[in-house]
Amino acid sequence: MKIVVTGGLGFIGSHTVVELQNQGFEVIALDNLSNSSVTVLEGIERITGKKPVFEQIDLREKAAVQDFFQRHKDVSGVIHFAASKAVGESVENPLLYYENNINALVYVLQSLAALPQAHFIFSSSCTVYGQAKQMPITEDASVQPAISPYGNTKQIGEEIITDTAKVTGINAILLRYFNPIGSHPTAEIGELPLGVPQNLVPFITQTAIGLREKLSVFGDDYPTPDGTAIRDYIHVVDLAKAHVVALQRLLQQKNTEKVETFNLGTGTGSSVLEVIKTFEKVSGKPLNYQIVGRREGDITEAYANTDKANTVLGWKAESTLEEALASAWKWEQRIRS
Ligand code: WQD
Repeated sequence: MKIVVTGGLGFIGSHTVVELQNQGFEVIALDNLSNSSVTVLEGIERITGKKPVFEQIDLREKAAVQDFFQRHKDVSGVIHFAASKAVGESVENPLLYYENNINALVYVLQSLAALPQAHFIFSSSCTVYGQAKQMPITEDASVQPAISPYGNTKQIGEEIITDTAKVTGINAILLRYFNPIGSHPTAEIGELPLGVPQNLVPFITQTAIGLREKLSVFGDDYPTPDGTAIRDYIHVVDLAKAHVVALQRLLQQKNTEKVETFNLGTGTGSSVLEVIKTFEKVSGKPLNYQIVGRREGDITEAYANTDKANTVLGWKAESTLEEALASAWKWEQRIRS
């Protein structure tokens, strides 16, 4: 069965390609290589024994998208990762984000709607909940006005898919990720942040390896037990496996609605200081860090209620924070050696 993975060479995309191939799916990975490298294909091959078919396509080019799907009318589903994801950059350059994350989505949906097997999985984000009133966050928590163009593209994306599914053959699953971290345990693939990382875990591993002088902890005056902000950090391999389960649900027509939404997290919140302490434990390296002021736009806490994913999808995150951080550290050491 042929599955298209857009952004297939990116961080979450590449891990999902591995899990799809492990389950016997035939994958076509699409990527414009704006934030990834073709060498990822070799990493995937070393893990799975198979190189996925790859096409370098820019999904903002409507004609290229149409041409691709004309040539591949037999695809059974699309998992759509291709998007830009840096919150700060989206504030600086909103139109880039609307073009990358919205135009591309529209073109893919237009082509997909014409296919007999119109199954679609979308990378959404817990950012749609803003600062939710209740923890852990359930899928029916209200969607809050977005604080960044990036967050807005995820909300609009969900709406575009929902509106489209009503009037086409498209069946979709929206996956709201909490904070994906880590790398494949083989350290053959992982996260490749461009420039200075904005996210906590790559900044930690780059500091530990000596690329950054010190980690700034953004705020210790939050109303949390240790004063630092709380997030739900989920191992990228667990996250990747959830995509395969979601796809199987659509392929087996087990979905009860045309568009279903699931939180993907562990259900456990960890503070920034807990992440640092756990990293120090698994790596054996003390981390140079200092407390600074809060980062604009950050929320106090977000962690998932995972009941719906556990019971309806039959999926559960299995890795611990220790395992996820150990894999991130192994990857950092591997790419710097
Ligand atoms: C985690 C915590 C920071 C860096 C972002 C996106 C969200 C999403 C996941 C998609 C926060 C603190 C961080 C640093 C720090 N989805 N921190 N020092 O902000 O929860 O979510 O990534 O792509 O949409 O907004 O993740 O990793 O940036 O931060 O103290 O140098 O670590 O303040 O509390 P965040 P993050």
